[in-house]
Amino acid sequence: MDDAFPTLGILGGGQLGKMMAAEAVRMGVDVRLLSPKKAGPMQAYADARTADWTDPQVLQDFTEGCDVVTVESEWAPAAEAAEGLPETTALRPSPDTLDVIKDKGVQKQRLAAAGCSVPDFACCHTIQDAVDAADQFGYPVVLKQYRGSYDGYGNATVADADELRENWPSLAADDGLMVEAFADFERELAVQVARRPGGEQVVYPVAYTEQRDHRCHAVEVPAQISDAVRRRAQALAQKSVDVVDGIGLIAVELFEMPDGSVLVNELAPRPHNTGHYSIEGCATSQFENHVRAILDWPLGSPTLRASHAIMVNVLGQRTGSPPSTEGLEEALSVDGAAVHIYGKPDVRDGRKMGHVTVIGEDRDDIRSRAENAAAAIRL
Ligand SMILES: Nc1ncnc2c1ncn2[C@@H]1O[C@H](COP(=O)(O)OP(=O)(O)OP(=O)(O)O)[C@@H](O)[C@H]1O
Ligand SMILES: [Mg+2]
Repeated sequence: MDDAFPTLGILGGGQLGKMMAAEAVRMGVDVRLLSPKKAGPMQAYADARTADWTDPQVLQDFTEGCDVVTVESEWAPAAEAAEGLPETTALRPSPDTLDVIKDKGVQKQRLAAAGCSVPDFACCHTIQDAVDAADQFGYPVVLKQYRGSYDGYGNATVADADELRENWPSLAADDGLMVEAFADFERELAVQVARRPGGEQVVYPVAYTEQRDHRCHAVEVPAQISDAVRRRAQALAQKSVDVVDGIGLIAVELFEMPDGSVLVNELAPRPHNTGHYSIEGCATSQFENHVRAILDWPLGSPTLRASHAIMVNVLGQRTGSPPSTEGLEEALSVDGAAVHIYGKPDVRDGRKMGHVTVIGEDRDDIRSRAENAAAAIRL
């Protein structure tokens, strides 16, 4: 890429695309976005297109003239987009990486085969296979749909064979589902890794991800863990990203076990909610490093700008449209609160609508400021 002002195509128009584009624009990159349906967050950009992205002609028009094409989500039609690309345009991460990651069974098999620690799991074609696997692991077990799950939809924790049988029909595809041993973890952790095409990486601090009702409520960085666990978590995340040949920013969700071991839960081939803290919290945000990595530009430092960073999600509290932003002024008057509103036109109960980050030296103080600011916003 000789062009000092490359063109980046982003497949996706949600908050991740919006935040990627913001960093790209800041560095002089020309950005265009494509979404299959009208997406609020991307409307901030001049070249935001809404069109049927399963149509090859739409994809070809979109990718024409791009130096690099990336995806906001593993569900974007990456392989289809890659098909018509000229040699001078790269799709990053590669369709191969996306294929491995978007099927939870294939992903776990790939990681386990390469020696990355994961919970015990079995890819089961039939109910009987699943019951046998669950007997072997011991109940409870977690049933996981192979493809298409997010925010915990597509998983079920079952206590016995009857519950397993009950949940099978809604979760199993033609090739069945994955049965995973229940990990009685100490904490859920996440680590972001940015990786360039040649393999050069930077690794972010270890984040503690606090879940409420199966959704990420808050992320605290650095996680309050021992040095040994921190090193293990970062090393495992870096290895996992190498194993899938990830290019760009890859987020690694981990379980810290009571004995101090660390297991990979899953990877996301893109910037991730658990890395939003890095916008204000790190010298280089996950979005900036994603853009740098896919353009094969030098990566920036992921070091924290303060002793602590806390991010609290702002979730929809009702279903309807358009959202109001009641309480925004109250949130903005909280000292040091960085408020992000994604601009989604429809609110749904529990939907991620925005987030608040606060960084600072006193952990308890920044936690309460972030919680207060996030709670003030009613959508
Ligand atoms: N093997 C397991 N043992 C215990 N808890 C688990 C296990 N697998 C998943 N979970 C819990 O369920 C949550 C969601 O699981 P997972 O990450 O597989 O699903 P997802 O739908 O891709 O979720 P998300 O989009 O929220 O990341 C995890 O964050 C964790 O709290
Ligand atoms: Mg997950």
